[in-house]
Amino acid sequence: MRAVVVTDQAAGTVGMTLAERPEPEAAGNDVVVRVHASGFTPGELTWPGTWTDRLGRDRTPSIPGHELAGVVSALGYGTRGLSVGQRVFGLSDWTRDGTLAEYAAVEARNLAPLPGDVDFTVGASLPISGLTAWQGLFVHGRFQVGQSILVHGAAGGVGSMVTQLAREAGAYVIGTGRASDRQMALDFGVQEFVDLDSDSLEDVGGVDLVFDVIGGDIGKRSAGLIRAGGTLVTIAGPPEARPAEGLAVDFVVEADRAQLGEVVQRVRDGRLQTNIGNVVDLDDAVAAFNPTQRVKGKTIIRVRS
Ligand SMILES: NC(=O)c1ccc[n+]([C@@H]2O[C@H](COP(=O)([O-])OP(=O)(O)OC[C@H]3O[C@@H](n4cnc5c(N)ncnc54)[C@H](OP(=O)(O)O)[C@@H]3O)[C@@H](O)[C@H]2O)c1
Repeated sequence: MRAVVVTDQAAGTVGMTLAERPEPEAAGNDVVVRVHASGFTPGELTWPGTWTDRLGRDRTPSIPGHELAGVVSALGYGTRGLSVGQRVFGLSDWTRDGTLAEYAAVEARNLAPLPGDVDFTVGASLPISGLTAWQGLFVHGRFQVGQSILVHGAAGGVGSMVTQLAREAGAYVIGTGRASDRQMALDFGVQEFVDLDSDSLEDVGGVDLVFDVIGGDIGKRSAGLIRAGGTLVTIAGPPEARPAEGLAVDFVVEADRAQLGEVVQRVRDGRLQTNIGNVVDLDDAVAAFNPTQRVKGKTIIRVRS
């Protein structure tokens, strides 16, 4: 099968190549998915699981990409809950070959049925950003109706989902980003926008929840904005500062079939818009991930037309 592979961590996305790889087999409780569309997060080339298996053994050349939409083509021994021919979408395992390929082997529990009226490219854009937003808000952030929330990178893949889910749940949402992100963030539903290049973050005052996708100095300064009892949720690594009278949580997104169902239902009934900036064929994937070609929103790879 054709797949994007990486062999050299130092090379980043520039080291990606399109290559022939053996088709994966379904191990126990796996399905093999004939991939129709696939998503990739640039940050994953810094994650250990991209380069080694769970025992730390080198597993290069490895196939990146951890979100997909496609059709089940084989079941492993003992696999329940999904069937051959079923449309599915979801998150693939961090320490196994991923989804920028014509076929991917994935644990069945990491996938959910993809309704027939949802396009594969839309399905592939939802697992990482949708699940991360859901878990950061409702699981780790313990969000409650009426709270105020500061969403960093509100025009980005995760931030745009956080903004929409938080608004639907009854939050007052302040978004941040670059000056050029203002209109996009407003379109996704932020009620105020802070341009991190020229506005002062400290002018925001107090909020109940900060959802940080940026980290570093922005994350550090955000801790001081959190009201007593509030939470700093970050997906950008361990927080460098903690709220004086609140919680700081950093987490890595996990697969969850029920939450995928919640996210895709919102897309079907128009409550949630995906943030796809670019759709390209597998032949053009390597070029599309080159940093100089980067577009705003998620880049989705159409593996089959
Ligand atoms: N822990 C987890 O489970 C998890 C899950 C998903 C994602 N992540 C990580 O979270 C990060 C965000 O993911 P994403 O998919 O939302 O990325 P994205 O689509 O690139 O969104 C990030 C947004 O933040 C903006 N931004 C970044 N740095 C900024 C700065 N210093 N000032 C102003 N705006 C800034 C970006 O603008 P520009 O594009 O102009 O820089 C972009 O609009 C990535 O590092 C990703 O690897 C972690």
